Amino acid sequence: MCPSELLARLEFDGPERRQLTELVTITETSFFRNPPQMDLFAETMLPQLVETRRRSGAFRFRLWSAGCSIGAEPYSLAMILLEGITLPEAWDLEILATDVNLAAIKRVEEGVFTSRELDGVSKARRGRFFEDLGADRWRAIPELRRIVRAAPHNLSGPPPPGPFDIIFCRNLLIYFQEETVRTILNHFTHCVATDGALFLGHSEFPGLHSTRWRSMATPDAVCYRVTQPTERS
Ligand SMILES: C[S@@+](CC[C@H](N)C(=O)[O-])C[C@H]1O[C@@H](n2cnc3c(N)ncnc32)[C@H](O)[C@@H]1O
Repeated sequence: MCPSELLARLEFDGPERRQLTELVTITETSFFRNPPQMDLFAETMLPQLVETRRRSGAFRFRLWSAGCSIGAEPYSLAMILLEGITLPEAWDLEILATDVNLAAIKRVEEGVFTSRELDGVSKARRGRFFEDLGADRWRAIPELRRIVRAAPHNLSGPPPPGPFDIIFCRNLLIYFQEETVRTILNHFTHCVATDGALFLGHSEFPGLHSTRWRSMATPDAVCYRVTQPTERS
């Protein structure tokens, strides 16, 4: 059983549990992690879905960054949304950024990063999307922070209310046991939009645990679409 599964079963809450969570979770992350996947999102999935939503008159776009760590993933996605959507201010945009680690969630809420943490962010993007607070601290501009909504959430439990146009859950399923991965993937089938997509880490494959996802692959990257609704687990 992985540490976060064990944590979900602990029968106490409070500061000790929070400290334990922060100690046992691996929060390694980076901005624009796995660039081919980010390109698949920015150049293919996002334009397709935005066009469909625009045609239907639903100017709403929701992403879920599940297991978001300190925020590199949701803030990367927020930059892509602001770059890729014409007149973003006319849209209701939200990236729900969740993690079991409360210290990480606090970092997402603050939106402040060091230049080392911003390593994957180009100079042009850093200039456009981050303000220099001095002392090697850079804060995401209000337009980015407005899109990213941080909340604590344990993936071992029920999912937050959907639907989400795209779910990112990268580089954490590898830490879960088979049964938990199956439950999480099943939850995703119920809260991802029918024409939406799921992005996993490059060594995580839903096909190993579920037949309900089909891959949408480019030569360098892959994401998954849900095939059919299933019974809730
Ligand atoms: C290795 S990081 C990956 C961060 C980001 N998704 C990425 O790919 O850069 C894994 C994150 O998953 C979080 N995590 C671990 N178990 C979790 C759980 N049961 N529910 C929600 N988040 C969890 C950890 O706290 C950590 O921040």
